[in-house]
Amino acid sequence: MLLAILLALLALVFGGLYMLGVFRKRRPNEPPLEKGTIPWLGYGIEFRKNTYAFLEKMQKKHGDIFTVQLAGYYITFITDPLSFGSIVKEFRAKLDFDDFAIHLVARVFGYHSRTDDHKLLEKASKKHLKGDGLVVITKAMMKNLQNLMLHNIGDGQKKWQQDGLFHYSYNIVFRAGYLALFGNEPAKNQESLKKAKKFDQDHSDELFGEFRKYDKLFPRLAYAVLPPKDKMEAERLKRLFWTMLSVKRTLQKENISGWITDQSQYKAENGMPEYMQDRFMFLLLWASQGNTGPACFWLLLYLMKHPDAIEAVRGEVENVLKETGQQVKAGGPLINLTRDMLLKTPIMDSAIEETLRLTAAPMLTRSVKDDMILKMSNGKKYAIRQGDLIALFPYTALHMDQDIYPEPKKFKYNRFLKKDGTKKTDFFKNGKLLKFFTMPWGAGTTICPGRFFAVNEVKQFIFLMLSYFEFKLVNPKEEIPGIDQNRWGFGIMQPTHDIQFKYRLR
Ligand code: HEM
Repeated sequence: MLLAILLALLALVFGGLYMLGVFRKRRPNEPPLEKGTIPWLGYGIEFRKNTYAFLEKMQKKHGDIFTVQLAGYYITFITDPLSFGSIVKEFRAKLDFDDFAIHLVARVFGYHSRTDDHKLLEKASKKHLKGDGLVVITKAMMKNLQNLMLHNIGDGQKKWQQDGLFHYSYNIVFRAGYLALFGNEPAKNQESLKKAKKFDQDHSDELFGEFRKYDKLFPRLAYAVLPPKDKMEAERLKRLFWTMLSVKRTLQKENISGWITDQSQYKAENGMPEYMQDRFMFLLLWASQGNTGPACFWLLLYLMKHPDAIEAVRGEVENVLKETGQQVKAGGPLINLTRDMLLKTPIMDSAIEETLRLTAAPMLTRSVKDDMILKMSNGKKYAIRQGDLIALFPYTALHMDQDIYPEPKKFKYNRFLKKDGTKKTDFFKNGKLLKFFTMPWGAGTTICPGRFFAVNEVKQFIFLMLSYFEFKLVNPKEEIPGIDQNRWGFGIMQPTHDIQFKYRLR
């Protein structure tokens, strides 16, 4: 009897250790394995502390491919950018995006995905964030940007205003982007239009304030490491957003983007309960507004710290305005900045690409559906196990590679320009042309569907700043803030602290 109990206990302990991955050994043809010293957790703490530094260290040790144990997951990182092409192709056939994303989305937004979600998102994005749809949404963005940027300037007075540059950029771009997508307060006549504009300004500012609270908790919420007090706060915020963005409230607005209405209509028609649709709205808000504002901040700051860059971009902006016969004058008409005008800015395009190279750090993760063989660009083949994850972190593997980008940590506004002033797309690794030379938007089936709109938003914001305002850092000698290590893997990085600037009408 005792022996039976002992054996059962032993089986339980071994079973538990097995589940914790303690007995996992590297098999023939598998990538190098790094389990760390703590069962199950593996390198979880070091990875979370500074993903960039950890992966850089592992890349130096193992090269192009290695598997790491991280909080119960075995994740194979591929760091050879020449192999990215074939892996992105594999993403479709043998690797699954949904498994991993479904859990994450449920935890952070309370939204329970459906199998047709991704198709619907693709359909709505193709229609409303590309082609003719992009023209419409870009126009809406312009209108809202002008409302928010010009309303508190006073009666044409040229008084200096001071703000944190990160706060200012994120606040304006978030609010204008939100209003462009989720719609404006309805107005029946000229008189109520004024009131509606004021409502939009106040309501979007309140939303931004709450969003920032959530934004700060987000990385730890995604990693499920929030202490109980913060967890409660995250729950409160989630519920607040479900209410503030509810389908009922949103559908009362006017100028709602088809991107929002189409998706909620599809979901309603397919029987999704309304409370779940409200949660989906919150997901759309986060995906659409969490990155563009921070990207605008970095670009504006890099421009301010690099006089040659700001002069080049300013010259281009002035030329585009001149070509369309427009001039910014006190009391004159507002600028009419069309999508066609935004297509004539190769210098700004290069500065944006450079900013994204320096600050966009998404982690692309897929789960492995079946045992598979992964072929690298050098012909080597690796066995990958079912149930593991595969991840790309282009920031270390690509964006910071000094063979591809000499002096990778420096901002060079013209890095993505050819000598003749056109867009440069040929970048090489070991003498071989790279198919993917930057990856701020991810890749494959889940590539950011808002990327064209996002670039337009950044351009519009910079265009308006340069046309309407004079601006400078309060302390021009202040260093560019460091990157907040907390957010690796979640898109555009944020600064460790804000930096004060002054602005006034030109
Ligand atoms: C600078 C701004 C932006 C950056 C850097 C960015 C980056 C990204 C990245 C890296 C992903 C994940 C891709 C992957 O897993 O392969 C993503 C997904 C997504 N983005 Fe963006 N994004 C930006 C702006 C926007 C905007 C403006 C919108 C909408 C209007 C948007 C909508 C989405 C959506 C809906 C997804 C989820 C896609 C899916 O599940 O397939 N993004 N974005």
